[in-house]
Amino acid sequence: MGLFTKKPIGQLLTDSSDGEHSLKRTLSATNLVALGIGAIIGAGLFVRTAAAAANNAGPSVTIGFIVAAIGCALAGLCYAEFASMIPIAGSAYTYSYATMGELVAWIIGWDLVLEYAVGAATVGIAWSEYLNKLLEMFGMRVPYEWSHSPFESATDAAGMAHHGMMNIPALFIIFMITLLLIRGTKESAVVNGIIVISKVSIVVLFIVLGWGYMNPVNHAKYIPDATIYTDLQGVAHNYGGIWGILGAAGVVFFAFIGFDAVSTAAQEAKNPKKDMPIGILGSLAVCTVLYILFAHVLTGVADVNDFRTVGKEASVAYAINTYMAGYTWLANMVTVAILFGFSSVILVMLMGQSRVFYSMSRDGLVPKLFSDLHPKFHTPYKSNWIFLVLVGGFAAFVPGDIVGDMTSIGTLFAFILVCAGVMILRVTNPEIQRQFKVPAVNIVAPLGIVVCGAMVAGLGWTNWTRLGVWLAIGLVIYFLYSKKNSKLKTD
Ligand code: ALA
Repeated sequence: MGLFTKKPIGQLLTDSSDGEHSLKRTLSATNLVALGIGAIIGAGLFVRTAAAAANNAGPSVTIGFIVAAIGCALAGLCYAEFASMIPIAGSAYTYSYATMGELVAWIIGWDLVLEYAVGAATVGIAWSEYLNKLLEMFGMRVPYEWSHSPFESATDAAGMAHHGMMNIPALFIIFMITLLLIRGTKESAVVNGIIVISKVSIVVLFIVLGWGYMNPVNHAKYIPDATIYTDLQGVAHNYGGIWGILGAAGVVFFAFIGFDAVSTAAQEAKNPKKDMPIGILGSLAVCTVLYILFAHVLTGVADVNDFRTVGKEASVAYAINTYMAGYTWLANMVTVAILFGFSSVILVMLMGQSRVFYSMSRDGLVPKLFSDLHPKFHTPYKSNWIFLVLVGGFAAFVPGDIVGDMTSIGTLFAFILVCAGVMILRVTNPEIQRQFKVPAVNIVAPLGIVVCGAMVAGLGWTNWTRLGVWLAIGLVIYFLYSKKNSKLKTD
């Protein structure tokens, strides 16, 4: 029956190379690592690190980064094996169609909307915070009402209460990046390369210059005692102890999201079998080292209470301006680099999103218009426009913390399924050539499931519910539309 129909791998490979609907192969291994780092370093580091320190773990957010990195490395190895074996567009969706059947593939494809589309909205919201920092340099600001969602409110220094209405800057950046994407991947990759260099430089500069400004008092209780912290919006978090660390890991996991987006570009890679594993694991390794050092310095320079109050938004610029006298130029540079940096993250996420739906559309699971290519630019432009509406809606009307956690939990869930998939495929299709094989797969893959599962647990029941609701909506769509329109339908 249709639910468990698997797409034969031979057919996947043939599908990927036919005529007018195929994408151009223009990306090298270096492009892919750049694409990965471009997608990886972003709001997770510059915004979510402070949020995780404030709400979950204090300075031990660094340990959260280590847990998240371990989960990503384990799942990343599994991703790399898949990507080297099935070098076509679609990421975890495509892999699972070949291994676990149509229903699971649908669930993953639907779940990846959380990772890519909702993730892009999260970064758009973070972009809006730093845009206000930039404007402050010139004595301006987008009013609170027009740079926050309707679910947020705050009191200013003069004691005036403000309520958000719509996050216009977030919507604006999503719109601009959509236009860039429609112009084509190659051009986008060049822009991305420049941004990656400035982003990495900023991270390194902050680590090196901030190191001397760390206040030992801020690190005195590196792992705070376990307690409950209720944030300004009234949400309770497990703070401190092991649950604090796991919660922080789930939150900052967001900072690693993106290395798997490399795999969605497999169809555009020149030599996918070799370049994919390099792209995925290379970008992951570079970022892990930078993140741990960065989080250590950030929580050493500023106090956790800052990140709960005045330093909640644009936290890195805040920490520099407040505690590193004479380094206003660094805060300004960070702000500008971040604005460009976040743009490249949004770009890769939106690209990943349209590529996943491109594959799903080719399989008949979503309407054909998601795989219609632009006659001149060869990009799935209709898909890009549709996602502009969805992503723009999230960016304009939902708070960053909510979309951020939804992104994390959605991605973790996909990772768990990928780890399971790689094991299944070893048994069901041992004959397929694998350019890259996960070492000790029977240990690595289950461990990946456990570590990612622990982070899901740390994210708490509100997020489990959100994930459940999202998946339920997806199942309704599957049974009403996708199952009937699937090209592999057998019943
Ligand atoms: N890893 C990406 C970021 O942190 C999604 O913005």
